[in-house]
Amino acid sequence: MKKVISMLLFLLATFLPATAQESCNIIPKPQSIKALEGKDFILTEKTTIGFDNGAARQAELLQAALSGPTGWDFPLRAGKKGDITLKIDSTAVTSSEGYRLVAGQRGVSITGHDAAGVFYGIQTFLQLLPKEIVADRRQRGVEWRIRPVEVNDAPNYPWRGMMIDVARYFYHVDFIKKFIDMMAMYKLNKLQFHLIDDSGWRLEIKKYPRLTEVGAWAGPEEKRLGGFYTQEDIRELLAYAEARGVEIIPEIEFPAHVLSAIVAYPWLSCQGKQHEVQTQQSISPELLCVSKDSVMNFLHDVLDETIALFPSKYINIGGDEAIYDRWKTCPRCQALMKREGLSEVSQLQGWLTNIVAGWMKEKGRTVVGWEEVFMRGKVSTPIVGVMWHNVDDTLKARVEGHRSIIAPVTHLYFDFPERKDKREIKAATWMPAVPLKKTYETPLLDYSLATSSVLGVQGCYWSDQFIHGTVLQELPQLDENRSERYAEYLMFPRLTALSELGWTRKADRNFTDYERRMATHYPRLTVAGIHYRLPEPVVEKSEKNTDGTYSLTLATPVADAAIHYTTDGSTPTYHSPRYNGTPIRVANPEQLRAITVMSRTHVSLPTR
Ligand code: ACM
Ligand code: ZN
Repeated sequence: MKKVISMLLFLLATFLPATAQESCNIIPKPQSIKALEGKDFILTEKTTIGFDNGAARQAELLQAALSGPTGWDFPLRAGKKGDITLKIDSTAVTSSEGYRLVAGQRGVSITGHDAAGVFYGIQTFLQLLPKEIVADRRQRGVEWRIRPVEVNDAPNYPWRGMMIDVARYFYHVDFIKKFIDMMAMYKLNKLQFHLIDDSGWRLEIKKYPRLTEVGAWAGPEEKRLGGFYTQEDIRELLAYAEARGVEIIPEIEFPAHVLSAIVAYPWLSCQGKQHEVQTQQSISPELLCVSKDSVMNFLHDVLDETIALFPSKYINIGGDEAIYDRWKTCPRCQALMKREGLSEVSQLQGWLTNIVAGWMKEKGRTVVGWEEVFMRGKVSTPIVGVMWHNVDDTLKARVEGHRSIIAPVTHLYFDFPERKDKREIKAATWMPAVPLKKTYETPLLDYSLATSSVLGVQGCYWSDQFIHGTVLQELPQLDENRSERYAEYLMFPRLTALSELGWTRKADRNFTDYERRMATHYPRLTVAGIHYRLPEPVVEKSEKNTDGTYSLTLATPVADAAIHYTTDGSTPTYHSPRYNGTPIRVANPEQLRAITVMSRTHVSLPTR
């Protein structure tokens, strides 16, 4: 009887239509999803794309996204309805970046509050289609079908950011485009471009050519390493990002983390000594000597050229981790402190921030910086702090009229490994590991914008583990040792958790539900060519048998993946036995090891 009932339940579960929430695995989770009556929408070779004038760029992107994997043309119909219609209507959809998507047999309509909203509606539409839609070449034999559905959606926070450190390791323009694509797939919208550090100056500044002629390169002449973005490269990236709803915010670091500029122009520092661009990670004690007019002019010129290039209303001035010893022993800097009535040397940074924030305000820009920018004395112009240490200081910021972005090192720094294990890839070690669940559950107070000054959240991807010249270990999980793959491995899947943290309201966020949806995203990321970290299997059930042995049931958080295992404590490989779903009988549960297997060359770390 029990068997019959469970068979019936199984049949019911298989043939009853799933509710819309169950059939939709959208990340980040939308505000509302409603299943509609009627027949499915199916993409065919006759499908057309109609669009409003304001959504022309988004229509082209949709056309390109659909054409590659289907092999069909998807003709564009400007100013007309199509089988898929893109519209901008700020009255019908009231929230900034919000959208409404309605799909049914008669077509798909995507209405955005603005161009970004249309773009996000398209991302949701793509997530509703089979995973093959993210492939870069034609996929045959796929039925491109969507159940009738209505999605109404808008982000919780206006700032959903990622920082990428291109100073420690120079990523090619093509990788930055891929990075923008990865952000855009998950509706992230602010890219903090960490262009400058001790180990490299990556932005062409025409007035100071040595910054990139000299400051972009490390190591001996015959095998120098590094690189930089020309202003032409930057314009190309800006256009690419803008079409995808991503705002690039340049970060020009000072007064510390700027040795690369001091190598190019030694007069920028207090002591004027010749140094070398770093090939190994450490924080240089050299600071810009802010007492010199030439240095202040340099800063003014560099920022002017930077804002002429980047249209963002924000300009990031870094400001983290200055050690003030050089200013303490510099007679000119000491004299400046006296003139300005500053008692602590750290206040000289506050003095500098005040001046620069004023310059930027005159140009209609707002200064952003690491939290240090408003922790070194009162800044009279409103600025934005990226709170990487002490999230509670958002309150201090608010009292002083500033705004903040939540980016705690403990939860949102993706240069830390997900797990502390010698088989894990080379990653930062100065803080504990940051597992996916920890990122997902980053504690956020209810910062609704009406009552708080928090703009949103940001993940940070530092590259100091991959600084030029560092030999990277082979990555068995990926069969690779290139820094780009390290970056993707460390960013994914945590970037998707960040996405939901920024987009989805607190009441709608739940790790178990996210994990269920995420299961279907891993195979999708594989199709998209992203070299992500596979999660380990878990022991779902452990039962003690009467003979003293144990029966263990395994599960993996990844749809379409296999589990391979050993029972003698050795490390499983692709060639170990494959788990078939029936419990495994072992004398000692400690001896069971299992891995998630996506393909011969893409496997997870073993369970502990
Ligand atoms: C930082 O991690 N130094 C902002
Ligand atoms: Zn000085």
